[in-house]
Amino acid sequence: MKSILPLLAVPAVAAATNCSIETFQAYLDANGTNAQVVYARHYAENATFVNPNVTAVENPTELPATCAIQVNATTDAGTHYSFGVFLPDNWNERFFHAAQEGADINWVDMAVGLRYGFASVATDTGHFGSDMGGTWWENPQSINDWAWRANHLTSVVGKFLVESFYGQKPKYNYFAGCSTGGRQAMKESQAFPMDYDGIISACPAWWTTHQQLWNLWQTTLQAPEGSEHSIPMSMFSVIGEEVIRQCDPQDGLVDGVISDPLGCNVDYLPLLCNGTQNSSCLTGPQLDTLHKIYSDWVEADQTFVYSHVEYGSEFMWNESGNIGNGSVGNEAEQYWYLQEILGISNFTASDLNLKLVEYADKTDPGNSSANDFNLAPFYKSGAKLIHYHGHSDATVPPGIGIYFRDQMAATVAPQGIDIDEFYRFFIIPGMEHCSGTPSTMNAPWYIAGPTQASALSSSLYGVPGYRDAKHDVLLALVNWVENDTAPEYIIGSFFDDDETFSITKQRPICAYPKQAKYKGSGDINDTDNFECKLLF
Ligand SMILES: *[C@@H]1O[C@H](CO)[C@@H](O)[C@H](O)[C@H]1NC(C)=O
Ligand SMILES: *[C@@H]1O[C@H](CO)[C@@H](O)[C@H](O)[C@H]1NC(C)=O
Ligand SMILES: *[C@@H]1O[C@H](CO)[C@@H](O)[C@H](O)[C@H]1NC(C)=O
Ligand SMILES: *[C@@H]1O[C@H](CO)[C@@H](O)[C@H](O)[C@H]1NC(C)=O
Ligand SMILES: *[C@@H]1O[C@H](CO)[C@@H](O)[C@H](O)[C@H]1NC(C)=O
Ligand SMILES: *[C@@H]1O[C@H](CO)[C@@H](O)[C@H](O)[C@H]1NC(C)=O
Ligand SMILES: *[C@@H]1O[C@H](CO)[C@@H](O)[C@H](O)[C@H]1NC(C)=O
Ligand SMILES: *[C@@H]1O[C@H](CO)[C@@H](O)[C@H](O)[C@H]1NC(C)=O
Ligand SMILES: *[C@@H]1O[C@H](CO)[C@@H](O)[C@H](O)[C@H]1NC(C)=O
Ligand SMILES: *[C@@H]1O[C@H](CO)[C@@H](O)[C@H](O)[C@H]1NC(C)=O
Ligand SMILES: *[C@@H]1O[C@H](CO)[C@@H](O)[C@H](O)[C@H]1NC(C)=O
Ligand SMILES: *[C@@H]1O[C@H](CO)[C@@H](O)[C@H](O)[C@H]1NC(C)=O
Repeated sequence: MKSILPLLAVPAVAAATNCSIETFQAYLDANGTNAQVVYARHYAENATFVNPNVTAVENPTELPATCAIQVNATTDAGTHYSFGVFLPDNWNERFFHAAQEGADINWVDMAVGLRYGFASVATDTGHFGSDMGGTWWENPQSINDWAWRANHLTSVVGKFLVESFYGQKPKYNYFAGCSTGGRQAMKESQAFPMDYDGIISACPAWWTTHQQLWNLWQTTLQAPEGSEHSIPMSMFSVIGEEVIRQCDPQDGLVDGVISDPLGCNVDYLPLLCNGTQNSSCLTGPQLDTLHKIYSDWVEADQTFVYSHVEYGSEFMWNESGNIGNGSVGNEAEQYWYLQEILGISNFTASDLNLKLVEYADKTDPGNSSANDFNLAPFYKSGAKLIHYHGHSDATVPPGIGIYFRDQMAATVAPQGIDIDEFYRFFIIPGMEHCSGTPSTMNAPWYIAGPTQASALSSSLYGVPGYRDAKHDVLLALVNWVENDTAPEYIIGSFFDDDETFSITKQRPICAYPKQAKYKGSGDINDTDNFECKLLF
């Protein structure tokens, strides 16, 4: 495997013989770091990683030659967290941290960085298995580990181990995560602005308290299950198809993709039952529910709580934690957050009011919300942040990404800081949560962002055939940090076949608020026939 980034080769003998528990334990002991090396193994090229802990997490395959270790460290608060490290034989002198994505050490996303030659780390954020498993949250210090501490410490101890192994500090440090990992990315930029030179925050669930309550709030629009105003789940795709039928042409190009959901006006009349109700129309009360689904959560005193899902997200409404059928699922992550983290038992739908939101904000266990909008320290450290979202995301609505951008811009502007100096925001038309697109749209969503490659395969990295800064968001970030070239667009790709990764369609995704517009002639699957334009 080769990397487009320059590589520094470690002598093969040293790479293999020094990949031992003793070597790394000696580094840690000499440094006075309270940690145990629990695993160390050298892998030859093309091996399949064997997770030392048997979990549901996917194991990466077809690795480049690397040393892999796992460390179990103790915090000053006496809690424990584990992290993994990949130290490639051919190192590109960079450090890459893959966020925790809700379940244990994220070896598969670490391997995406490894394949480029990054020394890569990831932490379990202080508990074994899934966030929702076990009883780890009973210790408030463990909630701190989950919320921010384990990521920061992994960055400190991880960089130390990299320097010890190669005899050289990493030249550049990068962090990337999606969803709850996107929240971790935002948290790093806010709480530890010196940790990373470049951060990718994808579809971040950054406002933990509001996000989790909103997920529950929208399920209550359908409650109680089976009532007159609840929309049957079988209607979601019917609504989605009608919305595409109307919105697709309104964006100026009929191609199945809703490119500008915010600019679309939907006439709901074609969905309304005329006379007798049947399985493909909505009654008046159901239509009222639909209006609420497409509206922000705003409390009676006009307090804004959260953004709404957008046109084009309907195909995801049936998924766990999303709009659903009106039953508030006890297994859902949102319920877990409310009950276990916030400590509210015996929850009912009518409890979802401003008082509860205020209580959640005041409590915010572990300070996990990444809602410190003052990114001035991050900017002053010279770091860069790429933030992106999918327009068809029904799990974390894209409007909350726009809200973050606007709040952040308004916070740093009075300090004389222009967000363009260090921040780019992209909204990917037709992309669902972190990855994927409705089969009715086939939008070019893939930019090799956090969790995207691993969602498709255990050996994929980058954009096959297009491993460059125009198509791959990680390389776009590297190009910005190291070459001072900010991305004005990133080209999204669509794989016609998720086995062979043959690309049939590409299109620029423009830095917000610009949008990609068809020039009017030429193949609509070809990037060159689009340009980034300001539409408002
Ligand atoms: C690393 O490997 C080399 C070559 O095998 C050896 O000389 C050196 O002592 C090793 N370093 C450590 C810290 O084990
Ligand atoms: C441990 O390593 C860190 C990072 O290199 C360094 O700042 C610190 O001084 C070291 N501590 C000791 C006791 O060597
Ligand atoms: C790499 O390993 C896979 C199995 O995981 C195998 O199919 C493939 O042929 C191997 N490639 C090389 C170059 O050895
Ligand atoms: C994970 O694996 C390591 C190494 O095999 C072991 O020491 C550790 O106890 C395991 N942790 C859990 C929670 O199983
Ligand atoms: C880490 O070490 C602590 C203390 O020895 C132990 O209780 C815990 O199970 C270990 N965790 C892992 C994941 O190995
Ligand atoms: C109901 O009637 C309106 C007005 O005539 C029409 O536009 C709409 O398509 C009809 N709806 C259905 C579901 O047929
Ligand atoms: C449902 O009713 C509408 C009119 O309200 C009609 O246009 C449509 O064809 C009906 N669909 C089915 C499956 O009966
Ligand atoms: C949700 O609906 C889509 C079709 O729109 C279907 O492909 C998918 O399997 C459904 N998911 C669940 C969890 O029911
Ligand atoms: C409604 O959704 C819940 C949670 O997903 C599920 O357990 C239940 O079976 C659903 N009800 C129906 C009638 O499908
Ligand atoms: C929840 O409700 C049950 C049954 O009504 C009651 O026994 C329990 O004390 C309640 N728990 C809390 C924390 O209020
Ligand atoms: C940075 O610039 C150099 C020189 O032009 C180029 O070779 C390299 O590919 C660029 N880095 C990225 C990540 O694009
Ligand atoms: C564009 O790509 C789609 C696949 O999403 C394909 O069906 C269509 O034929 C392509 N159009 C052209 C002009 O190649």
